Amino acid sequence: MALLPYSRSIFLIISLLLTLSSISAAELDAHHYDKTCPQVEKIISETVQRASTFDPKVPARILRMFFHDCFIRGCDASILLDSSVGNKAEKDGPPNLSVHSFYVIDEAKSKLEKACPHTVSCADIIAIAARDVVALSGGPSWDVLKGRKDGRISKASETVNLPAPTLNVSQLIQSFAKRGLGVKDMVTLSGGHTLGFSHCSSFQARLHNFSFLHDIDPTLNTQFALNLKKICPKPNTNANTNFSAGQFLDSTASVFDNDYYRQLLAGKGLFSSDQSLVGDHRTRWIVEAFAKDQSLFFTEFVASMLKLGNVGVSENGEVRLNCKVVN
Ligand code: HEM
Ligand SMILES: *[C@@H]1O[C@H](CO)[C@@H](O)[C@H](O)[C@H]1NC(C)=O
Ligand SMILES: *[C@@H]1O[C@H](CO)[C@@H](O)[C@H](O)[C@H]1NC(C)=O
Ligand SMILES: *[C@@H]1O[C@H](CO)[C@@H](O)[C@H](O)[C@H]1NC(C)=O
Ligand SMILES: *[C@@H]1O[C@H](CO)[C@@H](O)[C@H](O)[C@H]1NC(C)=O
Repeated sequence: MALLPYSRSIFLIISLLLTLSSISAAELDAHHYDKTCPQVEKIISETVQRASTFDPKVPARILRMFFHDCFIRGCDASILLDSSVGNKAEKDGPPNLSVHSFYVIDEAKSKLEKACPHTVSCADIIAIAARDVVALSGGPSWDVLKGRKDGRISKASETVNLPAPTLNVSQLIQSFAKRGLGVKDMVTLSGGHTLGFSHCSSFQARLHNFSFLHDIDPTLNTQFALNLKKICPKPNTNANTNFSAGQFLDSTASVFDNDYYRQLLAGKGLFSSDQSLVGDHRTRWIVEAFAKDQSLFFTEFVASMLKLGNVGVSENGEVRLNCKVVN
């Protein structure tokens, strides 16, 4: 039954049943800065837009930054803190290779400190910027809920709690469930991989000596795998890895669209975690629905981004003056 094509209305009914139990009261609010900093969204959008024009890698990097921030200690801008004497921060944890463009958030923050001092949290800046980069790339837009506080703790050791690209569906479901996110949120947010790039190190284990029986991961499209092997020719050892080589996450990596899901159905998901969504009855129906209906993907993406933006949000914390250091 899970393999049959689903109509939009059946999708919505199943979705409703799945989410009824997970609605939580948010303390965040779309109008949080209406009185204290009415220019907040304009200042951030202009900064993000200008940075993205100079560097087309910025949108993907900021979207990923939001995900990583919210998954470790909740959306509290812990990812922005610099390491200090005696403390190695998240930024300097192992999966830091591809999280960059922190300067864009810092730039927006310094403009905001001039326009409305000590008012807008760094965590809210990331959330607003993440919405902006999706919209800039052709995706949906939405009202960002605001009022997050910035945390005072950031530990590199905690980044091991980010999901790895080798995870299977059960492990992915578990990782998202720990943050109050459901199966549908997991599949929907994985659609963030419609933007951006990955280094060989994140997927080359699928291309060389994959298992006892298969040199190449058999869930990969053969031609796609052979092309990837040309880009990442060496087995997965540090000595051999070319740290700049890699592949875009879908065939339209600067456009926010549903191509990611269509590529998955064609066996062209880059990570095991992506491709596994097709091989499991709990997730395949969602991939199929999104591959068929981009506007459905957009609607669900907005809903799941709002939920992601609520992860671990608490009253405790501060509004940092400089996103890199605690007050
Ligand atoms: C489901 C679990 C997820 C896993 C296992 C995962 C894993 C990864 C990995 C390994 C990379 C490539 C890093 C590199 O080699 O440079 C990556 C890139 C990326 N991820 Fe994810 N990710 C997940 C979920 C998400 C979510 C929820 C979002 C956002 C909604 C997201 C957005 C991105 C973006 C935009 C990039 C490209 C970054 C760039 O171009 O610099 N990912 N992800
Ligand atoms: C990533 O972290 C490692 C060790 O934690 C560090 O040596 C390296 O310089 C960092 N890389 C980047 C690109 O920040
Ligand atoms: C997922 O991986 C875990 C850990 O390796 C394993 O125990 C489990 O059986 C796997 N589940 C599926 C559905 O493959
Ligand atoms: C492939 O993997 C097997 C078992 O993990 C290992 O014994 C073998 O040396 C590997 N071959 C190469 C060429 O790396
Ligand atoms: C590493 O990869 C980059 C990007 O694909 C390429 O330009 C460069 O020539 C490669 N370097 C080596 C030593 O293979």
